[in-house]
Amino acid sequence: MQILQNKKIVLGITGGIAAYKTPELVRRLKDQGADVRVVMTEGAKAFITPLTLQAVSANSVSDSLLDTQAELAMGHIELAKWADLILIAPATADTIARISHGMANDLLTTICLATTAPIAIAPAMNQQMWHAQVTQENITRLSNRQVNIFGPGSGAQACGDIGLGRMLDVSELVELTCQFFSENITRHTQKEQQPDQQILIGQHWVITAGPTREAIDPVRYISNHSSGKMGYAIAEAALQAGAKVTLISGPVTISPPKNCDLIQVDSAQNMHKKALNYSKNATVFVACAAVADYRMANIAEQKIKKSADTMQLNLIKNPDIVADVAALTNKPFTVGFAAETQDIEHYALGKLQRKNLDMIAANNVAAPGQGFNSENNALTVFYADGKYEIPLASKQNVAQQLVSLIQQTYLKQVN
Ligand code: PMT
Repeated sequence: MQILQNKKIVLGITGGIAAYKTPELVRRLKDQGADVRVVMTEGAKAFITPLTLQAVSANSVSDSLLDTQAELAMGHIELAKWADLILIAPATADTIARISHGMANDLLTTICLATTAPIAIAPAMNQQMWHAQVTQENITRLSNRQVNIFGPGSGAQACGDIGLGRMLDVSELVELTCQFFSENITRHTQKEQQPDQQILIGQHWVITAGPTREAIDPVRYISNHSSGKMGYAIAEAALQAGAKVTLISGPVTISPPKNCDLIQVDSAQNMHKKALNYSKNATVFVACAAVADYRMANIAEQKIKKSADTMQLNLIKNPDIVADVAALTNKPFTVGFAAETQDIEHYALGKLQRKNLDMIAANNVAAPGQGFNSENNALTVFYADGKYEIPLASKQNVAQQLVSLIQQTYLKQVN
């Protein structure tokens, strides 16, 4: 069955090198039954001709807002009304900035403003431009407005850089478009790192994950709801990118990624000991574990018997694992997490400074559907010269983005 049968897609093409892939994209969308009308920016025409796109789409190509002939035929308002989906591929940083600010200074941005159809963008730009704070703010703004973000992918770029920012492959864009129509959900799908993009080869990452358990007596303990999913996803992403990974994990029920060195611990003190031991020669340390801040001053040797109506536990502070790793003479690039329920930026920045970290990834653990023991997460990452938003996505996807950001920031620090 053709999944895009009777679907009307306006394909917006903007001025990036990936524009050369768009004739193939038009063909593959048509193969699935879509009717495709192409809108090109001036920049796009420097990379690919309207004639080519007219030939493959079998429709005239629109490229000007102020073209009297075009306005007589299918003008910008008609196109905006006609579309079931506006797909912009490639979407340059400039186009993303303009549509995120509601500008309408060319045909494509005007259509975006005039339409009630859903919009999907496939970002394509240099990795530094993608990581720029302002681009990330624009992406977050669009994502919050239910614009679908398809990609970007990661890998070697036309400019010679390696990193996030490549337009997804045509087959992936077609698949996401089909999924969009079959599920009709908004998505932000930064492409997972390909196993062959081994940018972390030679690096050793130590990652803590899961909860700790602080014994009260032989049968009871103090703990929290951490499932280990976030930390395990980071371990998986680092492994896929070629790092050697030591995963120091509290008690969880999920399986560890293949090929990591798994060190299982229970209490914060045990995790502290292992973390310091393995971090001495590590490249990166990521503290994703939800470590108990306090433990029993004295663990009862026998099961505590029920007696009075109230009971007080005498607790003492646990060592701060991530702060102690950050204080090592030969310290790895040290990344903490901040699990917050209010004043997220304020508390996260306080932890970044107090614990002397290189980076901190803050998550709102009060928001439904993210944080502790959920499949998804969203992070606001703070570091010396920036702030980076990772919008709500699967923990695997968030981990991919975080690993990539850590790598970029670490490289800047050592170069
Ligand atoms: O495991 P999941 O179910 O997937 O959930 C993921 C998560 C919500 C647990 C994760 O995303 C997260 O936020 N982890 C950090 C939880 C936490 O303990 O945050 P905190 O703000 O209390 O601690 C700040 C940082 O100090 C953390 O990096 C923590 O690992 C570290 N810490 C805290 C106490 C301590 N004694 N030693 C530490 O190293």
